[in-house]
Amino acid sequence: MLLASILSFLLTTILYCIHHATPADASVPFLEKNQYKLWAHYSPFYPVEPYHPPPRFCSITQVNLIQRHGARFPTSGSSVRIQASVEKLKSANMFIDPRIAFAANYTYDLGANDLVPFGATQSVEAGQTHFKRYGHLFKNDILPFVRSSSGERVVLSALNWTLGVATASKHTYNPPISVILSESLNDTLDDNMCPNAGSSDEQTGEWLDIYGPPIAARLNAWAPGANLTADDAFNLISLCPFDSVAHERFSPFCQLFTEDDFEGFAYSGDLDKYYGTGYGQPLGPVQGVGYINELLARLTGKPVQDNTQTNRTLDSSPETFPLNRTFYADFSHDNQMIAIYAAMGLFPQNAAPNPTGPNSRRTWRVGHMVPFSAQMITEKVQCGQKEYVRVLVGDAVQPLEFCGAGPNGMCELDKFVASQAYSRNNGDGDFEKCFS
Ligand SMILES: *[C@@H]1O[C@H](CO)[C@@H](O)[C@H](O)[C@H]1NC(C)=O
Ligand SMILES: *[C@@H]1O[C@H](CO)[C@@H](O)[C@H](O)[C@H]1NC(C)=O
Ligand SMILES: *[C@@H]1O[C@H](CO)[C@@H](O)[C@H](O)[C@H]1NC(C)=O
Ligand SMILES: *[C@@H]1O[C@H](CO)[C@@H](O)[C@H](O)[C@H]1NC(C)=O
Ligand SMILES: *[C@@H]1O[C@H](CO)[C@@H](O)[C@H](O)[C@H]1NC(C)=O
Ligand SMILES: *[C@@H]1O[C@H](CO)[C@@H](O)[C@H](O)[C@H]1NC(C)=O
Repeated sequence: MLLASILSFLLTTILYCIHHATPADASVPFLEKNQYKLWAHYSPFYPVEPYHPPPRFCSITQVNLIQRHGARFPTSGSSVRIQASVEKLKSANMFIDPRIAFAANYTYDLGANDLVPFGATQSVEAGQTHFKRYGHLFKNDILPFVRSSSGERVVLSALNWTLGVATASKHTYNPPISVILSESLNDTLDDNMCPNAGSSDEQTGEWLDIYGPPIAARLNAWAPGANLTADDAFNLISLCPFDSVAHERFSPFCQLFTEDDFEGFAYSGDLDKYYGTGYGQPLGPVQGVGYINELLARLTGKPVQDNTQTNRTLDSSPETFPLNRTFYADFSHDNQMIAIYAAMGLFPQNAAPNPTGPNSRRTWRVGHMVPFSAQMITEKVQCGQKEYVRVLVGDAVQPLEFCGAGPNGMCELDKFVASQAYSRNNGDGDFEKCFS
């Protein structure tokens, strides 16, 4: 037993040294390890694929960006739960494994809800990237039209994005935020308008009961007397990304968990979003309908037609919903972006994710879909006389089978519009079910 512990410690130390010998991005130390890609919706943004422009002889004529706020502190609810688990861990009688020894003197010092500086930086970088990529669409009198949901971290992410555009353009283009949509009113950038929508607690709970207990058992063996449960294990895993993005270092909590543990955690994020506002939630996709109808209005240059979450007053005025811009940028939340993907038909699944365990070939991976600073970009593309639509998530071109796209992922504009019947029909009666 003792020998096994010593061997395991030596092996870990060797592996740790090997890891640390690899080249590091000194500015953001936790990005030196690929582990952050397993942090699900708490992963910092990274491109899933390098950006590829549309085919030659085509040009982009309009861009519609919807972006998640940047990295943040835990929400106030999870902050309370995480702190309770940290206190349990600290109350252990002893810390046997060297990886957990730090816990004795660890002080929890994170805020709640707010954007962290690293999240602001990634928002600035996104603005710079988008200016470099799409700057030809910016002209003096055609600034990007920017809207934000009213959550403070969302507005600050939008402001930091506009700062990125301003700095990348050497302050030639300084777009303001034109509209802030209150999260207590009609808001197409938040999932705040469907009181009857259910939650994913059943599915995530079922999965936690499977992957969580062995992790808790290991931590309890390393820290006898802590009496950690599967819920504590979940809270402490989530502290790895939160502590890392807050302090821009690789949190000591990350080293408590194996790649398998993180895969379990990532799958819990996949289940959470699928059954929260995705295809597994009967009233999930309908919450994305308002945004899709706004998108169709912009793509076709015709007034918004929607009876769901839109603010009709704002959307019927050219001041607050113009149709003559070339770049539209909206700032939102992960749950809302999932609803929008589902309303559009992105990431279709042959089978629902099973709460008893992941399919390793699944394409529903929230780390790709809604990391911090996640981006969905709908490009309107002109090729000769014809207009097309292309959709990118994390810079990866989406296949758009639902409107007959070929290998280049482009659908004719008319076919794209036709494919969005669920939204054009205001969710086929689902929106009413949000209330009745
Ligand atoms: C924790 O702090 C105490 C008092 O400063 C110190 O003696 C101890 O070595 C520290 N433990 C660890 C694991 O850093
Ligand atoms: C960017 O976000 C940070 C919060 O992390 C905020 O303090 C700062 O004011 C924002 N920048 C702009 C230009 O608003
Ligand atoms: C767009 O329309 C608005 C409202 O009619 C007008 O004030 C503005 O100048 C137009 N902008 C461009 C770039 O055409
Ligand atoms: C619509 O937007 C206007 C302008 O911001 C606001 O005064 C009004 O309260 C909003 N109404 C709803 C229901 O969202
Ligand atoms: C931890 O669990 C053990 C065994 O169930 C129990 O005797 C002990 O009182 C618990 N300790 C705490 C701090 O809850
Ligand atoms: C807000 O949305 C509700 C539900 O669709 C709708 O009845 C109401 O007219 C909307 N209000 C505005 C100002 O658009």
